[in-house]
Amino acid sequence: MKKYQAKDFNLPDLKGLSAKQIEVHLGLYNGYVNFTNRLQETLEELKKDSEKNAYAIESVRRRLGFEFNGMRLHEIYFEQLEHGASEEPRGKALDEIVSNKFGDFDNFLNEFKNTAMTRGIGWTILSVDEKGIDTAKGEVPEAFIAWIADHELGQLADTKILLALDMWEHAFMVDYTPAEKAEYIEAFFKNLNWSVVEERI
Ligand SMILES: [Fe+2]
Repeated sequence: MKKYQAKDFNLPDLKGLSAKQIEVHLGLYNGYVNFTNRLQETLEELKKDSEKNAYAIESVRRRLGFEFNGMRLHEIYFEQLEHGASEEPRGKALDEIVSNKFGDFDNFLNEFKNTAMTRGIGWTILSVDEKGIDTAKGEVPEAFIAWIADHELGQLADTKILLALDMWEHAFMVDYTPAEKAEYIEAFFKNLNWSVVEERI
């Protein structure tokens, strides 16, 4: 059984996101890594007496999507902030994919930011469905912007996540109030390293 290790991220000083905010958030990320490991170990332990532990086993199984996706989404999130902001990928492959769905890059950005304002805790993701796409014929993968409640509710199976924005309050409440969510979203985009997003295609 794999024991997951928390990753170190090479984060510069960020604009509009304090060192304290990032420190608190990385601590929570570490928690998801630990709980992904603990969950797997606990399940194996409980299965030694599966009859007696039937209810507990089922409860633990239901938590896997929460812990694992919590771990992985945070890795996608922090990797995007590594090495500093870079220019928007206008005219590049990412632009072509999102413009094919949303009209142009600005419309895509607006739709993404509007989705991020969804009430509640969760994530806004951009993912692409590459099933049945023949790039040799110039076909473009289908882009989706989705709201993921918690870390797992609303995930689009077998699509590839290109961009993920953490909209849990823990992601911004050291620096912003809930009423300032839009400012946090703007701060995120100011620090986003688009070349990381582009490389995921
Ligand atoms: Fe988070």
